[in-house]
Amino acid sequence: MATPVRVAVTGAAGQIGYALLFRIASGQLMGTDREVILQLVEIPPAMAALQGVVMELEDCAFPLLSGVETADNPTDGFRDANVVCLVGAKPRGQGQERGDLIRENGPIFTGQGQAIAGAAADDVVVAVVGNPANTNALIAMANAEGVAQERFTAMTRLDENRARSQLAQKAGVPVREVTNLAVWGNHSSTMFPDFEHALIGGKPAADVLDRDWLEGEFLATVQKRGAAVIEARGQSSAASAANALIDHVSNWVGGRATAADDWVSMAVPSDGSYGVPQGIISSFPVRTDGKGSYEIVQGLELSGYAEGRIKASYEELQEEREVIADLLG
Ligand code: NAD
Ligand code: LMR
Repeated sequence: MATPVRVAVTGAAGQIGYALLFRIASGQLMGTDREVILQLVEIPPAMAALQGVVMELEDCAFPLLSGVETADNPTDGFRDANVVCLVGAKPRGQGQERGDLIRENGPIFTGQGQAIAGAAADDVVVAVVGNPANTNALIAMANAEGVAQERFTAMTRLDENRARSQLAQKAGVPVREVTNLAVWGNHSSTMFPDFEHALIGGKPAADVLDRDWLEGEFLATVQKRGAAVIEARGQSSAASAANALIDHVSNWVGGRATAADDWVSMAVPSDGSYGVPQGIISSFPVRTDGKGSYEIVQGLELSGYAEGRIKASYEELQEEREVIADLLG
């Protein structure tokens, strides 16, 4: 068997951590033929709770889990890590926007970016979940001198999964029949789940479903789904977020390449494609090879409506960048 993959997870004693770690340890992230070593990172007050999670991991006797390490700082926690999942951050409460967390959570990602540059493996890939995820990923990237920018991504896969599920339910088809659904922009209420390119059973979604519903209820439901979960549960999404992170990372490096005629959503450093300005981390349709590379899908035609939606979201990302300009090193 190949060398174990080292997967570091911050916020490992939190809600998402609890829904995530057992799935990584069971082989759902890197494949069922690859051993993993978990490197669990928390803040000092949460280390005791983290020990309980470690006990539970041990008690599962996962055949693919060849080690569990813990750390109360990112430099130790990220040492030689091949995959770094930056989950640890404060969640928003009811009535807040994710962007409201920016000054509180943003500073976490300066030291973590530096620790990635200083301690992680040469092939490290980074997926940011802690909110506001896109701008936190930008902060980590800007502080990780010497690490290629394309290694820094933020998660918008939960938004894609939500959108696919809504389309499938409305059309009365299994969710696997909904393909080519990209989320553009920010993981915020300005995101654009692109129903204009989505296919349902191979047909354009707009031929199957009413355009008014797509522009109205569908869009609003996806954009506000995180808030709806918080309203209902009293806590933000956790199992669905962990599931989306498994999708994001396993497509990228865990051997699950995207199909040649499909794509997935990842927030990645903009290269200027589709007029999205460079200098922000924005969600695009991407294709991955399952081995650590991805590319932004090129050549999609955008309507004026779609361009307007995407612009509103990237302008919000530019505003967020202004708010944390002092953290960009
Ligand atoms: P939680 O409060 O249950 O857990 C967060 C954990 O992070 C805590 O255990 C805390 O001690 C730890 N932590 C805080 N600062 C840390 C640091 N500097 N280093 C290491 N650990 C640290 O929260 P949760 O429900 O697990 O959510 C975590 C984050 O993920 C929140 O910001 C939430 O808004 C975000 N989130 C994002 C998405 C998405 O789609 N991108 C989805 C769901 C949640
Ligand atoms: C989500 O989309 O569920 C998370 O980003 C949590 C939130 O604050 O909405």
